[in-house]
Amino acid sequence: MPATAPTAVANPLAHWRREFPIFERSTYLNSCSLGALSRAARARVTGCLDQWDARGAANWYDTWWAALDDLRARYGRLINARPGEIALHPSVSTILGVLGSGIDTTARRRIVTTHLDFPTVPYQWLPRNVDVVLLESPDGVSVPVEQFERAVDANTALVATSHVYFTSGAIQDVRAIADIAHRAGALCLIDGYQAAGQLPVDVRALGVDFYVAGGLKWLLGGTGITFLYACAETTGVVVPRSNGWFGHREQFAFDPAQFTPHEDARRFETGTPALLAVHSQLGGLDVIEAVGVDAIRAATSALTEDLVAEASARGLRPKVAPTAAERSGIVMLPRTDPGADVARLAAAGFIVDSRPGHLRVSPYFYNVADDHRALLEVLLDG
Ligand SMILES: Cc1ncc(COP(=O)(O)O)c(C=O)c1O
Repeated sequence: MPATAPTAVANPLAHWRREFPIFERSTYLNSCSLGALSRAARARVTGCLDQWDARGAANWYDTWWAALDDLRARYGRLINARPGEIALHPSVSTILGVLGSGIDTTARRRIVTTHLDFPTVPYQWLPRNVDVVLLESPDGVSVPVEQFERAVDANTALVATSHVYFTSGAIQDVRAIADIAHRAGALCLIDGYQAAGQLPVDVRALGVDFYVAGGLKWLLGGTGITFLYACAETTGVVVPRSNGWFGHREQFAFDPAQFTPHEDARRFETGTPALLAVHSQLGGLDVIEAVGVDAIRAATSALTEDLVAEASARGLRPKVAPTAAERSGIVMLPRTDPGADVARLAAAGFIVDSRPGHLRVSPYFYNVADDHRALLEVLLDG
């Protein structure tokens, strides 16, 4: 690095790096794909395995059932939901399947989503007998709110889009989108997988009907655990046709002749949750809650801005939203052969990822500016 280079921004949360052993072996900059494994998550999973080994199914009666309630409550607190507004699921896709089975599209056939959303959102609707409107993005970064305004009409059943686009890290004006949906009498579903954890989320302030997120990325919970927020006021209008015993109000009556769904969000649950994933997520939340989401956002934003500035200063043209307030911890760097970059960086100890035409660099609160600065040196040295 040149002697005149400005001092890297100091990250007040950098001491948390010790909680994540991966940094002893590599420089991890891929949290938008998979959050790093914490010591807390590993300890929780080990604890669950020990319980399984010691007492088998007897754990359900005291520890494991309580763990599910604990997780629903903690996901709820994280996004300012009320008790009874959280359902647990193994993936966003399974949540969308259950919701899709219950949203009435007989009178309103239109589903509005965008080309920038994670494909599993439109995939849910494309095979169904509905009209899917995929809004174009003029810049590949975001979709102006005015395009939602023009597309959402009296035939629209659902507006389904992201809080943060996985393609660009751009933060959407969710409140405005929810208002557009509701003015037209449609429901609003937000995919918050790339937001919850790295951004403060207040579902009441956002005014959405449904919000989905999970452990994989910014919530440090790993694979196999996600959640659905279903707003108490609108939950009742969606009666799922794809069901399971966890959605039954009298689950332990074991009555095969009658299905009576829960009145709250648990009507959208299906089968037994993956307990190891539940426990790794509880460990991830131990860390997120101890650090605090406001502090996480401040640290991640400072690192993101430094990365954007340093990459720009080196002649790269990051494909990100125009202002810091709209940017998050996903920075797309246009490259001619991003796959080769990923391999070369991996050989030098950097873990990042690529998307078509781009190297994707994803800082989080456990990173320091020297991580991405060193990465840029290696990247542009080839
Ligand atoms: C925005 C977004 N939604 C959804 C998913 C994944 O959904 P699922 O839990 O169905 O694998 C991802 C990434 O894996 C994502 O980035």
